[in-house]
Amino acid sequence: MRKIEIFDTTLRDGEQSPGVNLSTEEKVEIALQLERLGVTRIEAGFAAASPGDLKSVQEIARRVKNSTVVSLSRAVKEDIDKAVEALREAEKPCIHLFLATSPIHRKHKLKMTKEQVIENVVEAIRYAKQFFDEIEFSPEDGARTELDYLCEVVQAAVDAGAKIINIPDTVGYMTPEQYANIFRVVQENVKGIENVKLSCHTHDDLGMAVANSLAAIEAGVTQVEGTINGIGERAGNAALEEVALALETRKDYYQATTDLNLKEIARTSQLVSRLTGMIVPRNKAIVGSNAFAHESGIHQDGVLKEVTTYEIIRPETIGLQSNKLVLGKHSGRHAFREKLQELGYNLETEQVNQLFVKFKDLCDRKKEVSDEDILALVDSKLSHVPETYKLESIQLSYGNMSLPTASVRIRLADGTMMEEAACGNGSVDSIYKAIDRVTGEEVVLDDYQIVSVTHGKDALGEVFVRLKQDDNLVQGRGVSTDVLEASARAYINALNKLVARRGDAVANEKPSVSV
Ligand code: KIV
Ligand code: ZN
Repeated sequence: MRKIEIFDTTLRDGEQSPGVNLSTEEKVEIALQLERLGVTRIEAGFAAASPGDLKSVQEIARRVKNSTVVSLSRAVKEDIDKAVEALREAEKPCIHLFLATSPIHRKHKLKMTKEQVIENVVEAIRYAKQFFDEIEFSPEDGARTELDYLCEVVQAAVDAGAKIINIPDTVGYMTPEQYANIFRVVQENVKGIENVKLSCHTHDDLGMAVANSLAAIEAGVTQVEGTINGIGERAGNAALEEVALALETRKDYYQATTDLNLKEIARTSQLVSRLTGMIVPRNKAIVGSNAFAHESGIHQDGVLKEVTTYEIIRPETIGLQSNKLVLGKHSGRHAFREKLQELGYNLETEQVNQLFVKFKDLCDRKKEVSDEDILALVDSKLSHVPETYKLESIQLSYGNMSLPTASVRIRLADGTMMEEAACGNGSVDSIYKAIDRVTGEEVVLDDYQIVSVTHGKDALGEVFVRLKQDDNLVQGRGVSTDVLEASARAYINALNKLVARRGDAVANEKPSVSV
């Protein structure tokens, strides 16, 4: 079996998804989960893009020990210096240099000749070599670059000291056969290529990102770049969980495996979805909520008789427990703590106590409490955002022939209680207007989405909102058995993030560069 290394770029290319804007704490939380998942490299960000990015890469470099921490960098000294600063405390640092090589990019974006591009690449790699043992180089839009010229660039990068050569399909234009061919040609024509790691990086514009990555593996690459849930620029990147499960399920064919702890896949996917607000479609391969559901009677009958009739992957493989009902209203604190540990949370007694109160509260409102319910509770309770505003209560008057009216009570950080009422175009609108009156914040509701955490009439409702204020974009999330309460909680969560971000001058600065 060949070993395929996983390079996760959820926090860099994934964070470039339109509307996604993670705080440093959220990025650290995802990075630590990626480490638990066992990815070899975590691209933590693009240190030179903004002071906020620099800070996030620094913090991740400080906290992550087992995975290599990578910073993206343009092939210029100033960016390399920022990456050096950001990765100073990393146990295993790596710089990822990139420069576009395709004719379209050379002519219109860079206005550089072929020779100038090569000179620039060599100079940047030589400069970075003083600070980094591990240098990855990507010819951006490499897949649309003339093959003979691509080989020249790669040869120059290898000679200059790059240890990983990544050839991205930046615009998701390739077919599997074409993409695989590029790697074959590079391996046949570049001297010393056997001493470096070959890597693929694909985008999903034509829905072929995963297929292209798998074709690249067949053609000899030993590193796959991608993101959790396939989030990313435009249509997204290759979904790593899909690549990993394709290799695992079809070992017979690919003869390749990864070091991922597959049982962490479901949890990683849920965490990324919650923190980014990018909801996973129900029918998404591997991590969609329908991925293991059998609806047709014939299928159900088959699965009951022999599971392999219609199931090629067991839900347990990715850490799902088939919605096992675990705790209920008679469960004690000890069982609750054990459950938290089983779900991967080793919490302080004080935190367990706080959560236990919430859990008991939930048991009163909901007959059956599943692992998903508990995870949703924990995630909402353990948010790192200071509670400048805390929802105390909501009161609503609604009738289809009258104007909905909401009154909300909110406790401020200094203990002051505030109450306001407002009418709106609907119940949610009236709640949001009343909250605006209390807080005095002027925000635009950029997005609102609602999903149910589990099934059934008493399922927890989870609301995601995105609020915009000047150049600041924040996501908020709220969970409750009542969707209107969840809506209020999500809105207040986002407002608290806005306040925190304004107080954090570094994170508040606008990115000066993006890829
Ligand atoms: O898609 C791309 O080309 C990239 C590079 C920066 C590697 O993300
Ligand atoms: Zn990319």
